[in-house]
Amino acid sequence: MAKQEDLQHIDALLEELRVIEPPDEFRRNAIVNDPEIYARAEDDPEAFWAEQAGKLRWSRPWDTVMEWKPPWVKWFLGGRLNVSVNCLDVHVEAHPDRVAYYWEGEPGDRRTITYRELYEEVCRFANALKGMGVAKGDRVAMYLGMVPELPVAMLACARIGATHSVVFGGFAAEALRDRINDAEAKVVVTGDGAWRRGSIVALKENADAAVEQCPSIEHVVVVRRTGQEVAWSSGRDVWYHDAVDGQEATCPAEEMDAEDPLYILYTSGTTGKPKGILHTTGGYLTGVATTHRLVFDIHPETDVYWCAADVGWVTGHSYIVYGPLANGTTSIMYEGAPDFPDKERWWSIVERYKATILYTAPTAIRTFMKWGHEYPARHDLSSLRLLGSVGEPINPEAWMWYFEYVGGGRCPVVDTWWQTETGAIMITPLPGITRLKPGSATRPFPGIAADVFDEEGWPVGAGKGGYLVLRRPWPSQFRTIYGDPDRYVQNYFSRFGADVYLAGDGARRDEDGYFWLLGRIDDVMNVAGHRLSTYEIESALVDHPAVAESAVVSRPDPVVGEAIVAFVTLKSEIHGDEALIVELREHVATKIGKIARPHSIVLTDDLPKTRSGKIMRRLLRDVAHGRDLGDVTTLANAEVVTTIRSLSAERKDDE
Ligand code: WTA
Repeated sequence: MAKQEDLQHIDALLEELRVIEPPDEFRRNAIVNDPEIYARAEDDPEAFWAEQAGKLRWSRPWDTVMEWKPPWVKWFLGGRLNVSVNCLDVHVEAHPDRVAYYWEGEPGDRRTITYRELYEEVCRFANALKGMGVAKGDRVAMYLGMVPELPVAMLACARIGATHSVVFGGFAAEALRDRINDAEAKVVVTGDGAWRRGSIVALKENADAAVEQCPSIEHVVVVRRTGQEVAWSSGRDVWYHDAVDGQEATCPAEEMDAEDPLYILYTSGTTGKPKGILHTTGGYLTGVATTHRLVFDIHPETDVYWCAADVGWVTGHSYIVYGPLANGTTSIMYEGAPDFPDKERWWSIVERYKATILYTAPTAIRTFMKWGHEYPARHDLSSLRLLGSVGEPINPEAWMWYFEYVGGGRCPVVDTWWQTETGAIMITPLPGITRLKPGSATRPFPGIAADVFDEEGWPVGAGKGGYLVLRRPWPSQFRTIYGDPDRYVQNYFSRFGADVYLAGDGARRDEDGYFWLLGRIDDVMNVAGHRLSTYEIESALVDHPAVAESAVVSRPDPVVGEAIVAFVTLKSEIHGDEALIVELREHVATKIGKIARPHSIVLTDDLPKTRSGKIMRRLLRDVAHGRDLGDVTTLANAEVVTTIRSLSAERKDDE
């Protein structure tokens, strides 16, 4: 159930009465300017999606639009297509010289890549992969920064029917190892390093450490980015530039079944083991192309679109790579940090490329807010016409700041709710027709049946909070958890039956049917827009030789949304001090990645437990939030709470 504090937070939100109408000019030119699209899709969702799928290029039409044997679903059965053909060949025929990506490296180097150039590079790398023995159905992992070779490698896999698994470049060696092993990847594509805030992320070093324990890996392909020296394992390691050198610039596209896998992307669940979310070909592409076109109102001849996410997360997969390319969009791709070399970097990029659409996360917006509006004010941002938000609930203050100081008060803001599992945007405004309320993701996308259920599975009334669910299949739905179908059923389709998808988020609907997202209701945290499991961090801490037990919770944070607080008990002979706390934080960074480093660590002699020995996370959450703890007499060890409280009062965020 949605946590009490969230409900209080939402009461404040519901007092948010501002309503922003789509600007007239925007409405006039919008792709969707007639609200009848909702009724039409609702009347016959399959026909709606079939119409959208029909805009793609199929080498064989489908026989059946959808087959649903809850919780299993298939879309466009019998249809055949290739994703890379839809992202490349179609556009090379129509407008080969249109820019696909304006790429900007953190040090300031730039590349402009047209659709023809992208097509040729993809074909070369596809041929190179084939030469390494990669065939249809094989898995290929990628562990790279934000360089053009990442989309190239993804599309090359799509071209030859291999399944890619992109691992975010900020993950540590062990996290990479586990993901490679779960997917049994044959090849990993990495880099000599990646630029981040003026320093180099040691990608190759991490990849080497990981691959040592990955028996399935035959080759490591290394993109030269930073030029630094790297260790080399001859026979196994191949430079990317050597691999593509001399390859043909054409490569026949593998004809794929609509239901053939396209990729696996790992995401945190409520256990320590990440889930391999599996997406397939026809439905996924239909979902991302449709939502990208309609939510961002894409006019491919004139728009310059910038999704500032990392390709290592689903937002990058769907809205930097597949959606935009399927729609023939010109995109911006930026490698580095927003404050390198200074806090104006993003705004100088918007100005330089005359970006018309910007899509980012609330955590970034709140960071910019903290820095101050003088930074965007120093640049001409008048090219912007639409703004988007994703990844966490956006508070009305951040929404208004974005609207005013980035959008100049003229750009609609689309707050888009979705997940790795949904593949594409599910709840969102359509910018030409939706009246916006700052802080609300507004309505389900046409054809999507979102609802809010109470404990018993009944839709809640207006103004009440509950579980966010999706009651009908959609094309870009994940098809399973790779190698673990039971977990797919258990995790998502058991709470309210096999025909109801449980999102894991709390939500509330207002009198107008608008959705207000309340955050996760399970043991998943959302830290700076990244999904992290409390158990994963607890396991990393317990793995340290000094640690006996740990419990991880989050507390609200004005910038990153949720900050990580770890309560740790040490083994009896160990004395805890500042140095150990630093060491524990680094230990988590080494096991999972810097994004998972606890913001605060509280050392305590004991953790509050029920009489049956379960750690009372709720109480710890109350401590972390500084809330009244109420009655604690049912605890086995009630006195510990007072002690923890005094300890955590001393220790504030040390970052
Ligand atoms: C959260 C990212 C509120 C939510 C696309 C979800 C949001 C999780 C929003 C998925 C939003 C995403 N408003 N919360 N507009 N968008 N979330 O899989 O908790 O990395 O369950 O996908 O992010 O995170 P994931």
